[in-house]
Amino acid sequence: RMLKRQIACRSDVNRMNGAFLATFESLIPPEEERTKQNQLLALLDGIVSKEWPDARLYVYGSCANSFGFSKSDIDICLAIEDANIDKSEVLLKLADMLQSGNLQNVQALTRARVPIVKLMDPETGISCDICVNNVLAVVNTKLLRDYAQIDVRLRQLAFIVKHWAKSRGVNETYQGTLSSYAYVLMCIHFLQQRRPAILPCLQGMEATYSVTVGNIECAYFDKVEKLYGFGSHNGESLARLVWAFFSYWAYYHDYANDVISVRSGSTVSKRAKDWTRRIGNDRHLICIEDPFEVSHDLGRVVDKFSIRVLREEFERAAEIIQYDPNPCVKLFEPY
Ligand code: CTP
Ligand code: MG
Repeated sequence: RMLKRQIACRSDVNRMNGAFLATFESLIPPEEERTKQNQLLALLDGIVSKEWPDARLYVYGSCANSFGFSKSDIDICLAIEDANIDKSEVLLKLADMLQSGNLQNVQALTRARVPIVKLMDPETGISCDICVNNVLAVVNTKLLRDYAQIDVRLRQLAFIVKHWAKSRGVNETYQGTLSSYAYVLMCIHFLQQRRPAILPCLQGMEATYSVTVGNIECAYFDKVEKLYGFGSHNGESLARLVWAFFSYWAYYHDYANDVISVRSGSTVSKRAKDWTRRIGNDRHLICIEDPFEVSHDLGRVVDKFSIRVLREEFERAAEIIQYDPNPCVKLFEPY
């Protein structure tokens, strides 16, 4: 009877595929947003090069990793070669210049974990955050973008998961829930684990791209055009994957022992990383290894209260998809 129910559920889930695809399509940014972003970048480039002629601006985060929704803010990294610069000084100087350059709401947050300048461009209406020399973020942005090229279901799944997380209020690191970056890594890991696999493990393959950032070597296979069709042996629909993703995090993930690791294409043990107990404020209640900064657990922001919220939300999502004939309404219901 159990088997029968599972089979029934599976075909039911597939019937929801159109609704999930429509949700995905509705969140894709229109092409003219790209034009506006480039317009703002050119403006900022002009301002920055006056003071730092050799500096370069890189877009990272959702506007460059292919997981951005319509109307996303832009994350920009100002890369300055000079190793002796003081980041706070640069940011304060930059804030001054932006203010004179007619940009609005300019604000330097020099004490943040990642110090930034915030601004809004009145011409395009775009807001952006500029940080200094955060090269790892630029590199992990490329990794995410490269994964997204291999199978379209990654972008679709991650859009649904991000949209769910934003609707349900579980995409707020300052409230102990997870960043969008963490959710995308969870999606990549999940698709690496499907059988047959939908995504490979790029860091486990022969490196065709390699940069060293500080003492971290970032190397992986980035010739993703050679991997088109990698997941075609697996015919699972988006709806089925969304359902299985939430079921995994609701019922199957071993929170006590496992760390999900995109770097290794599998899980690794919490014990091996010494992530079994609370150290300072890091509790390791849900463990998501950063692909390059491997000592960094993206779940470290989660505390004993927010882990309950998260797990209840995973269960709620899995149940809605399993039992609700029209799940897209309830799944994305504002909390
Ligand atoms: N990042 C990181 N380490 C983190 C969080 C973020 O390196 N702990 C970097 C990643 O390069 C990520 C970028 O910062 O792509 C932006 O993070 P985030 O805002 O979580 O993701 P976005 O893709 O910008 O999502 P959103 O659409 O919610 O802005
Ligand atoms: Mg962002």
